[in-house]
Order: sequence, then structure tokens, then C-alpha cells
Amino acid sequence: MKIDFHAAANRYSYASREVQPDWIAVIRSLVDPAGKRVTDIGCGGGIYSAAWADLDAAEVTGVDFSAEMVRTATEKNHGRTNVVFRQGDALATGLPSESADIVFERALIHHLTDYDACFREAGRLLVGGGQAIVQDRTPEDISLPGSPEDIRGYFYECFPRLLETENARRPTSQAVERALSRSGFGALRTITVWETRKRHDDFHSLAADIRGRVGRSILHALSDAELDELVRFVGRRLPADAPVVEKDRWTIWSGTKG
Ligand SMILES: C[S@@+](CC[C@H](N)C(=O)[O-])C[C@H]1O[C@@H](n2cnc3c(N)ncnc32)[C@H](O)[C@@H]1O
Repeated sequence: MKIDFHAAANRYSYASREVQPDWIAVIRSLVDPAGKRVTDIGCGGGIYSAAWADLDAAEVTGVDFSAEMVRTATEKNHGRTNVVFRQGDALATGLPSESADIVFERALIHHLTDYDACFREAGRLLVGGGQAIVQDRTPEDISLPGSPEDIRGYFYECFPRLLETENARRPTSQAVERALSRSGFGALRTITVWETRKRHDDFHSLAADIRGRVGRSILHALSDAELDELVRFVGRRLPADAPVVEKDRWTIWSGTKG
């Protein structure tokens, strides 16, 4: 089963992660957010919309096609005057043309099939010289072996069918670069980064995260019984009482509107 982003039961799936200093450092190496208008498409619970505001963006518009996600993001960002959320599709947001200096799309495009349409819409929203920043995980990023940091690798060892699902939906670097180029973006840059995902006090906290399928759409492909099996599999590879610092490898593509 795929995750249903429109279900009320999943509305907090992308609302609890803490933005980590390694993500901030990478973003600052790509762009100076101060004073910029940022549109965060596929914003989920608005974690990174808020992060852009904290990086001194002038205004941030989070967009998501799920009314439930927009509801959560609005709730979580109550009191922020320069962050708003709108319901809209990544391929046709309904936002005004040339209204953004930066379009950010994190963990969005592996849920889409038409990257060209997505990036054309990003290009429409950007002013000339504006920047698209796309963050996702490629087949290479996800196929790394499991380790006490890269916990996801264990998921695919335990259930190889998950890797097949991932390989079918994850964007290759070349596909993203070609789609950005066809959509009018130049000065393309592609970088791979390790980003801290979450710090758990001990294995039990990680186990609760896995059982809750928090922020991991791939775990919706497993039944509750299979999740229990996965927790046991991961548990045999980690110390029970030591902290776990989970990291994910990501690819970030950046392009400038010509
Ligand atoms: C994996 S979550 C990532 C959320 C957030 N960007 C983050 O990194 O925490 C993907 C988000 O994209 C949204 N989404 C998926 N397809 C979309 C589409 N066609 N248009 C707009 N949002 C979409 C989902 O509702 C979900 O909130």
C-alpha cells in the first residue's frame, strides 16, 4: 500500500523532524536566503518552510496538494507572520507567476512522474535569475548498505521488495538534470550530502519511529506484522541502550532560471 498523503491519520507524518545544522550549512552554501521570497512545494507539515523563515527569508509560501498537510503546517506555524500555506498541486500551484526568488522541493519529486511539468511550474513561479533547489534521494543514495547511521539500508536487507519499490520511484540524477535543463534552468549543480535525520536516545525510540512509519512513506508498503519483524531485524544490529544518530544520503540539484 502507498502512503495516502490526504488521510487525516498521516497529517503529522512530516511535522516532527528537527531541522539539522548540516541541512542549514548545505543550503547556505547554495544560496543566501536573507530577504528572499521562498516557495516550498510539497511542504508537508511545513518543517522546512519554517527553516527558510529562520534563515531570514522575507516571506515563505508552503504549498501542498493535501489539505491535511496544509492544515498541519498552518497549525505548526501559528504566530509566524511571514509564512503562509496554500493547497495546490506541484504541477499547477495556482500561485502568481514570478512571485518567488527561490523554489524549494524536498522529498517531493519521487512522488511525481512528470518532472518536466513540475520544473516548468517552478520556472513559472520564479523571477529571472531565481533559483530552484530540489532535494531527493536517488537509487544510488538509497542502495547503500545498512549501518548504525544509515538505518534505511537495513530495511532493504530485511525486505528486498522495498528496494524494488524505491528503485522504481526514485529519480536518477541524469533524469533530474535533463528535466531542469529542458525546463529552462541553467548553471546546474548536483551535490550529494549526508544529512542527520534524527537523534534517538536509544533503540526503543528508533523502534517507535519505525512502528509509527513516521516520515518514511516506504514503510506504508509493510504490514504491522512485517514492521515488527523489521524492528527485530534492526534491533539485532544495534546496541539496545546507546543513542542512535540516523543519517540519510541525499542529492540536491540547483538551477538558475535563465
Ligand atoms: C515526503 S513528504 C515531504 C514533506 C516535506 N517537504 C519534508 O521534507 O519534510 C512529500 C510531500 O509532498 C506532497 N505532495 C506529493 N505529491 C504532490 C503534488 N503533486 N503536489 C503537491 N504536493 C505533493 C505530499 O502531500 C507530502 O506532504
